[in-house]
Amino acid sequence: MELRKIAKRVEEKHGIPLTERDVVRVFSAALASADIWRIVDLAEIPVLGTCEVLEALAEQGWVEFKNGRVIVTETGRDLAVQLGIGAAQEFRCPRCRGRGLELSPFHKLSQKFHELAKDRPEASQEFDQGYVTEETTVARIALLYARGDLVGKEILVLGDDDLVSLAAALTRLPRRVVALDVDQRIIQFLEDAARGENLNLEVYHHDLREPLPSELLKRFDTFVCDPTESFRGYLAFAQRGISALRGPGCAGYLGLTRLEASLRKWQKIELALLEAGAVITDLFPNFHEYVNWPYIETMRAWPHLPVKRVPGKFEPWYRSALIRIELVEEGKAENVRYSGDIFTDEEAATT
Ligand SMILES: [Fe+2]
Repeated sequence: MELRKIAKRVEEKHGIPLTERDVVRVFSAALASADIWRIVDLAEIPVLGTCEVLEALAEQGWVEFKNGRVIVTETGRDLAVQLGIGAAQEFRCPRCRGRGLELSPFHKLSQKFHELAKDRPEASQEFDQGYVTEETTVARIALLYARGDLVGKEILVLGDDDLVSLAAALTRLPRRVVALDVDQRIIQFLEDAARGENLNLEVYHHDLREPLPSELLKRFDTFVCDPTESFRGYLAFAQRGISALRGPGCAGYLGLTRLEASLRKWQKIELALLEAGAVITDLFPNFHEYVNWPYIETMRAWPHLPVKRVPGKFEPWYRSALIRIELVEEGKAENVRYSGDIFTDEEAATT
């Protein structure tokens, strides 16, 4: 079967585990849109995998690349009918963008946050940054609130180019908000905002490859992070977060994409979270929408794209799930040092 061969080819060339089903996902995405970024988004497999599958489909004459677009050929359409492959559909609720949250009670927060975030530092490739839309950050706060992880709580944000700590502090509902970041620009920005608005917000310089300082261990009710997605990088963030939690009943919020993490990686990550004493209580697909970062043309996936177009800043194609975990026993995360590059693995695309 041709589709299985394509999956194998991707695995051999890029070391990304792919199933026949993943090849179908790319085919379905191409049937739904001719735009490369929409295809990458809808395919929900690592970006390099989508690129390679599209090349393979083109070699078979099932798709062609024309004027910067991906077109399914007549032969391709016939094959899709024959194989029972339909166009990808999302059916996303337009009101809540699929998050299931009513954000109108947060109107004032949104306005204030928007006003302050205007001067935020631009995303830096050095630290694998890429921040979410302002609406996404506000939606995260709404979710923390709804899950009882905001009011009266001590909250730790690990890496905060999304400015979650700022939005959380602006509600004036948490008991304490602490943000850690490696980027001096973010630290400066958060400190200035905290001073200007008289916020209960502490900001510290910290490289998350280093263990958490002892004064932050077992001190928090809630942690929030959007880890880099190599398995080691993800573990580094998750373990720091878990080791900062007081104990059972405390919660963590993490992002995870399908575009830089295969389902095999998801399996490893989920197992690691379970082994650390947590359960996954909530999982929202595509909760996070990202503002396009200025280094699209130098990111790892760019040379692999079969057609090249720089997307507009607010033309979101990169999305990620939000995972909420809760400790059901004492956290068992190791607070060890991670040396070297924690950003890159076979599935990395935006580093
Ligand atoms: Fe809705």
